[in-house]
Amino acid sequence: MDSRSVGPHPPIAGAMGPPLSPEGRGSAAPLDWLADFPAIPEGWAYLDSAATAQKPQVVIDAIARGYAETYATVHRGVYQRSAEMTVAFEASRRRVARFIGAAAPEEIVFVRGATEGINLVAQSWGRDNLGPGDRVLLSTLEHHSNIVPWQLAGAGIDVVPLTADHRIDLDAMERMIGPQHKLVALGHVSNVLGSVLDARRAADIAHAAGAKLLLDGCQAVPRMPVDVGALDCDFYVFSGHKLYGPTGIGVLWARRDILDVMPPWQGGGAMIDKVTFEKTTFAPPPARFEAGTPHVIGVIGLHAAIDYVDKIGLDAIAAHEAALVREAREALSSLNSVRLFGPEDSAGIVSFAIEGVHPHDIGTILDESRVAIRAGHHCAQPLMEYLGVDATARASFGVYNGRQDIEALRRGIERVTRIFG
Ligand SMILES: Cc1ncc(COP(=O)(O)O)c(C=O)c1O
Repeated sequence: MDSRSVGPHPPIAGAMGPPLSPEGRGSAAPLDWLADFPAIPEGWAYLDSAATAQKPQVVIDAIARGYAETYATVHRGVYQRSAEMTVAFEASRRRVARFIGAAAPEEIVFVRGATEGINLVAQSWGRDNLGPGDRVLLSTLEHHSNIVPWQLAGAGIDVVPLTADHRIDLDAMERMIGPQHKLVALGHVSNVLGSVLDARRAADIAHAAGAKLLLDGCQAVPRMPVDVGALDCDFYVFSGHKLYGPTGIGVLWARRDILDVMPPWQGGGAMIDKVTFEKTTFAPPPARFEAGTPHVIGVIGLHAAIDYVDKIGLDAIAAHEAALVREAREALSSLNSVRLFGPEDSAGIVSFAIEGVHPHDIGTILDESRVAIRAGHHCAQPLMEYLGVDATARASFGVYNGRQDIEALRRGIERVTRIFG
């Protein structure tokens, strides 16, 4: 069976319109990218990449080959297959390091995803650095995974407000920050609003106050070039599945001098130097933070995903998504019952509401038109409260989207407004 016709809906003939080029109009490039994704049937507008990205064939192939041809555990085997898998596993670590501008592969810790990366920092770094009276500075737009771990770590929390156009207000942050703040933890790109943080300025403000900066890069890494050295942050986390890679694998990057003195947070195999019943000594980073058998094939798939996006180029992806955002905002703002959230120049994500219609109804009706969006609080309940809504509808883009998807979204929303009068 042709995999392009497999999916939640039968294909609609002629649904593919002219694609957007990386510059905004008319080139065939994004159509070529769409063809890389076997799980997107023709005529299905997948607009939920901020939740998770679809997978290109090269990633699927790398995962299949990993299980079907080269599978073995890593770091322990004395046999050839395991040694080869270990080489591939560590090659992926080097690839990740190069991809985000880390100074050394030892600064890359493989985790389950951004959520686990932040919990690791909160539990490990937090144990030594967040004492009574110490506080962390977050922002109004944070994902729950950059709020709850700090609460669990017992830290006091202060919240940087947003500007009128829904960016993290760094002027306010500069006024608020004090010696009690040991850490600032901010979303590099908001998963609801698409607002892009001026991360370098945030780092300068944090460091001037003696605080460290953690960036939640979940929505940034798939959408723009990221160089942790140039950003001058101290911790950076992201999830592989939003970067066209597998689920269950993600990355915590931290500067080597910080990782070196962080205590382990989970105990088990692979993270030790020597174990006796009386005392255990621990391996150096990154192994100290990777207890247990790792997600070997996830790491291999992540390597393939990074090769994939790098081949297209993050600058081209950013330009492509900027054009999609522009077009989506134009199309939606022409419908007068639609309220748009976030700044004009949001990165790949457009949240909106329709007067008198619950976002879940919007999502359900759009699904009937073969348009997949997300509706809900997007794991950002404090932000919903700030926006004065329970939920929003959210369209988010990836390399496979084109003008035809925006058109399908626009038509679907017109249908929603007709149904709801
Ligand atoms: C900004 C942001 N941070 C953190 C997360 C958590 O990512 P994961 O569930 O992959 O750990 C998400 C996922 O939606 C996100 O968008």
